[in-house]
Amino acid sequence: MNFYIVTLFPEMVMQGLGTSITGRAVKENKIGLKAVNIRDFTEDKHGRVDDYTYGGGAGMLLQAQPVYDACESVLSGILQEAKKRVVCLAPQGRPFPQSLAEELAKEDALVLLCGHYEGIDERVLEEVVTDYISIGDYVLTGGELAAMVVVDAVARLVPSVLGNEESAGIESFQGNLLEYPQYTRPEIWHGKQVPAVLLGGNKKKIDEWRRQEAVRRTRERRPDLFAAYCRLEHCRELLLKRKLQHIDMIELINRGRAVLIACEEHKGGEAEIILMDRKSRVLFHTWPNASPKQADESALFRPDTGGGASALVLHQRAFVEAVSALGYELDMECRQAAYTRREKLPVAGLYREDRGASPEGFQIRPLTAEHRDLVRSVYRTVDEEGYVRERIAANAMFGAFFGDVLAGFIGVHSEGSIGMLQVLPEYRRKKIGTALETWLCNRFIERGMIPYGQIAVGNEASFLLQERLQLCFSKETVFWMSREKAGAEM
Ligand code: ADE
Repeated sequence: MNFYIVTLFPEMVMQGLGTSITGRAVKENKIGLKAVNIRDFTEDKHGRVDDYTYGGGAGMLLQAQPVYDACESVLSGILQEAKKRVVCLAPQGRPFPQSLAEELAKEDALVLLCGHYEGIDERVLEEVVTDYISIGDYVLTGGELAAMVVVDAVARLVPSVLGNEESAGIESFQGNLLEYPQYTRPEIWHGKQVPAVLLGGNKKKIDEWRRQEAVRRTRERRPDLFAAYCRLEHCRELLLKRKLQHIDMIELINRGRAVLIACEEHKGGEAEIILMDRKSRVLFHTWPNASPKQADESALFRPDTGGGASALVLHQRAFVEAVSALGYELDMECRQAAYTRREKLPVAGLYREDRGASPEGFQIRPLTAEHRDLVRSVYRTVDEEGYVRERIAANAMFGAFFGDVLAGFIGVHSEGSIGMLQVLPEYRRKKIGTALETWLCNRFIERGMIPYGQIAVGNEASFLLQERLQLCFSKETVFWMSREKAGAEM
C-alpha cells in the first residue's frame, strides 16, 4: 500500500508519520509514504498558491492549478491498473469510522489531499477527487492532521505492519463492543489488585469475564454502540431458531463483522433480516416462509439497501427470482456445514499439531505471493486473479508443505467461511485435505468461533470430507448471487 500526501506542509506529515509504528513500516518497506509539496507546482513567480474568493468572503482559497499539477504528478507515477483513490480531507466529508479504514486498506494507493486556508477551488476537486473524508465534526486549520489519522488507521490494517497480526478471518475480535480493561505487572499497585479471574489461568472464565466487562463498558461509555449491539443480539436470537441454516449470519454477528441493514418481525413470528459484512461487503438476507407477495415487498428492494454490496447471499429460494429485478444472477447453491462442538477436532495422519515431529510429516503454514499461480492453476472456481492475490496477502490461505513443496491448500473466504480446499493430484489419498481442514477448524475453535463452510451442491467429495470430520449440514441451501458473473466474491 502506498500513501501520497499532497500538502503545503510536507515536513509536518513526514515527521508525524515517520516515527513509531508507521515510521518502522516505512523503513521496512511494508508501506510507502511520500509527501508532495503543492508549492513546488505553482506557476506564480512569487510562489503563491492561494488567492481571494470570487464573490467575496473572508480568507483565501488554494488555487486549482498547483493543486491539479501536484496531484497529477503523483497519479502519473502510479500504475494504471493499481486500485487507487484520491481523498480530500475536509470537514464536509463523510465520517471516518473503522469500516471506512478497512475499505481503504484494500486499495493499492491512496492520494490524500490536504486543504488549507478556506479550502480549495471547486473545479480541481471535481476533476481529481474520488472521496471526501472528515475525521470528526470540528474544524482543523488544515487537512494534514486528518490525513495523518487516515494513514495511521489504514496502515495498521495492512498485513504485517503491526508485526503480531493474525490471519484475516481468524483474528481475535471484540464484536461491536469497546475493549475490556487490561492489566500488567505488578499484581498490586496503589493498593489495587488485578482481578482474580485473570490470574487463575482458566481461559474460558477469562474470556467470559472480558466479554462481560466489554458489555458493561460499552453500556456505560457508548450508549449508541450499546444500542446497536443490543439490536444485533436480538437478530442473533432470531437467527438461532434455525442455527445451521443461518450459521453464516450468526457468525458474522459473533465475529463483530455484521452491520444491521434491516430486521423486521412479521406476523407468525418470522423475521426478515439483512446484514452486511463490513469487511467483504457481502450482503446476507433471510426471511423464512415469506409468501411470494411478501417477497416482492422485501426490504431488499429499498433504495438504501445494499449500496456497494459485492455479492448477495440469499437463504430462501423464493427470493432468487425476485432479486433478478435488481440485476443479480445465481452463481452457486450451497449447503452450510458447521462444526458446532467446543472441543477441537482430533488431529491424525501425517500432520502433527507440534509441527511434524515425524520425518515424513508436513507442515502447515500461510501461503505467500510466490504460490499464487499454482493456486490459481488448480483452483479454477476462483478465476478472478485479484481474489487469490488478496486472500494470500491477507494471510488467509494456508498450505501443506513437504519441505518447500506445496501439496495442498485451504483458505478463509473474504466473508469468513472456510473454503478453497485443494490437494494437488500427486498428493491425494494421504489425508492432506482432512489435515488442512482439521487444522483450520481448530484455529477457529481456539478463538471461540464456529468454523463453517459452504459446500456447493454436487461437490460430493467435499460433502464426504465434511461428514468424516463430523461437521453438521443445513437441510436448506443458500444462494450466492452476483451482479457480474465473473466478479463474484467467491
Ligand atoms: N480539515 C479541516 N477540518 C477537518 C476535519 N474535521 N476532517 C478532515 N479534514 C479537515
